[in-house]
Amino acid sequence: MIKQEDFFKKITSHAKEYGFIFQSSEIYEGLSAVYDYGQNGVELKNNIRSYWWKAMVQFHDNIVGIDAAIFMHPTTWKASGHVDAFSDPLIDNKDSKKRYRADVLVEDYLAKIEDKINKEVEKARKRFGESFDEQQFLTTNPRVLEYVNQTDDIKKRLYGAMESSDMVAFKQLIEDLAIVCPISGTRNWTEVRHFNLMFSTQMGSTADGASEVYLRPETAQGIFVNYLNVQKTGRMKIPFGIAQTGKAFRNEIVARQFIFRMREFEQMEMQFFVRPGEELNWFEHWKKERMKWHLSMGIPATKYRFHDHEKLAHYANAAADIEFEFPFGFKELEGIHSRTDFDLGAHQKYSGKKLQYFDPELNESYVPYVVETSIGLDRMFLAMLSNSYKEEKLEDGTERVVLMLPPVLAPVKAAILPLVAKDGLPEKARQIMDSLKFDFNCQYEEKDSIGKRYRRQDAIGTPFCLTVDHQTIEDNTVTIRDRDTMKQERIDVNLLHEIIAKKIRPDYQL
Ligand code: GAP
Repeated sequence: MIKQEDFFKKITSHAKEYGFIFQSSEIYEGLSAVYDYGQNGVELKNNIRSYWWKAMVQFHDNIVGIDAAIFMHPTTWKASGHVDAFSDPLIDNKDSKKRYRADVLVEDYLAKIEDKINKEVEKARKRFGESFDEQQFLTTNPRVLEYVNQTDDIKKRLYGAMESSDMVAFKQLIEDLAIVCPISGTRNWTEVRHFNLMFSTQMGSTADGASEVYLRPETAQGIFVNYLNVQKTGRMKIPFGIAQTGKAFRNEIVARQFIFRMREFEQMEMQFFVRPGEELNWFEHWKKERMKWHLSMGIPATKYRFHDHEKLAHYANAAADIEFEFPFGFKELEGIHSRTDFDLGAHQKYSGKKLQYFDPELNESYVPYVVETSIGLDRMFLAMLSNSYKEEKLEDGTERVVLMLPPVLAPVKAAILPLVAKDGLPEKARQIMDSLKFDFNCQYEEKDSIGKRYRRQDAIGTPFCLTVDHQTIEDNTVTIRDRDTMKQERIDVNLLHEIIAKKIRPDYQL
């Protein structure tokens, strides 16, 4: 068993070694929480985006896509609430000079209590053996109950401080819990203050009267401000959706865990416009539909779970996360939010333009309600990478590292390998590659032994290796090797297209 921390290190170094992810501006020591995608990474990322787009836009008659600009009129962010409320509570330790998110300090403290509860459970499980009833233990053991009460009390104070944006209450909570700085070990804290997460810059020259603009912190607002354009020009009838993928920027304070939390990242979002009063049914619908998409790629269901939000943002009347089991535990991968008419209502107010829908069945106009699905592309990348990384001991005593990526996402679908680089085999291999490369990303490789070439393809997750040998010239057959089973079969070259196409098609139906 590899330790979780070591496992995560292995994934990050594998991602670099095989051209998936590089630290941004690495030759200048890098830029914190910003990453570049390499030659294989960009293919994997494109494939995730494309599969999401197919499932959302191509599969649904009533969902269309757009590509809005990153820069938007600054009032957009006033209306959306980001100027006033998109901030984190920050606190500095005066001795270590380290800056922390106050809520994260408290959450880390809560996690320690959770650990203590888990340890009590494990101890009791050992003591009672087969007859152990975990539920009963959790609800009756006095020590556990004390921990649970403590947790409830802290959560109440934490959510209260967050909800009312009460920085004094935050500081008091940190003091009452006697939280120390993990670096200096002291409690010498500054006051807690707001820190807005939006990056801003100047648009236009100063002489022209430059104005402050923001790099969008979410793609959703580009959809809201285009709601009427799309509805009218596309003659869309409610219920309908608008989807978009694109970059978002957040000046994250606690930027850690590789590409899990970045300062520049990509989102894939869809806003679904519905009749007021029907939003909670659609919310349930999209929760199911999005989970179906995740499971269609063959990842075990145990890797996913829903987390329903207890504490709702002021604009939402329901919210849930789809969490994935990353190497550092279950964490948010995607959010599904019932956002009411908050966004369209606010843009209507700030712009003075009516953003309504005339519903011919009801014979009335209203501001539609919105259910949103929002997934981080980079986070999905990390989920797929960490889930697919396997180290295997083979029968002959050697080892291999293989990325068992869902075939639809694999950067290279087939590697075409002439057994030797002579006797007309390279030419035949090129011919086969030419017949496949418009539809599938293929890679031609003739260097090194066939075994080494298989290992390289395993390490980037290529589902098929096609070996061209002397028999290929005689009877137009190749050996096709399956990445996961390593089984080889001899098949006719004319069947390759069909076999690859079948393998990479996920089992997704509406
Ligand atoms: N429009 C709604 C919205 O932006 P969010 O929960 O803030 O909601 C949605 O973000 C998704 O975007 C998250 O579930 C996560 O996958 C991704 N995400 C958010 N912040 C991120 C960051 N700093 N780095 C990478 N992905 C991030």
